[in-house]
Amino acid sequence: MYGLLYSLVKWLEGTGVGTVIRTTRIYPFIQAIHFSGLSLWLATNIVVDLRLLGIGKKRQTAARLSEALFAWNWIGFTVVVLGGFLLFSGIGTTYLVNEAFRLKLAVFIPVALGWHVFVQQKVSAWGHTSDTPTVGKLSALVEIMLWLCVVTAAVLIPNY
Ligand code: HEM
Repeated sequence: MYGLLYSLVKWLEGTGVGTVIRTTRIYPFIQAIHFSGLSLWLATNIVVDLRLLGIGKKRQTAARLSEALFAWNWIGFTVVVLGGFLLFSGIGTTYLVNEAFRLKLAVFIPVALGWHVFVQQKVSAWGHTSDTPTVGKLSALVEIMLWLCVVTAAVLIPNY
């Protein structure tokens, strides 16, 4: 299984996209795309979580805020994934053997993403008034911690 994944990533490195990213000075620009996307994604996640925790304007409920930010939230995620994939494509085989990268991609992102979808689906029930039930507050706190784990693992990926 790992052998197949390795071959696939090796092939990706050899494609036109992988070669351009590895051999030109475009890498920092792709990093900027990844970071812009993740800023939008994390901000639109965390602001709803904070609202569920009772922080922010009392007039705007977490449910309304989540609804208003829904499109921006998923646009942010699309940009993160696109930027991350491009960063990866240049030197994927190097990232593949890095523990922090593996932890980020194979463990923290799937768990945090699943949790985010769960919170996003429940926010209309938990956040239709300013009185968030305890389960909603705890779930919001867990989501913030999970994204913190993703970012911590990401920061531990060396700059090659
Ligand atoms: C929403 C999810 C994600 C978040 C919050 C996130 C966050 C981050 C952060 C904060 C860094 C900067 C590390 C540093 O330079 O100190 C980073 C780097 C990186 N990310 Fe992501 N990322 C996410 C998704 C992805 C995905 C899906 C991929 C690949 C398919 C990816 C690939 C990378 C790579 C290769 C780097 C190293 C770039 C470098 O520092 O040279 N990321 N990520």
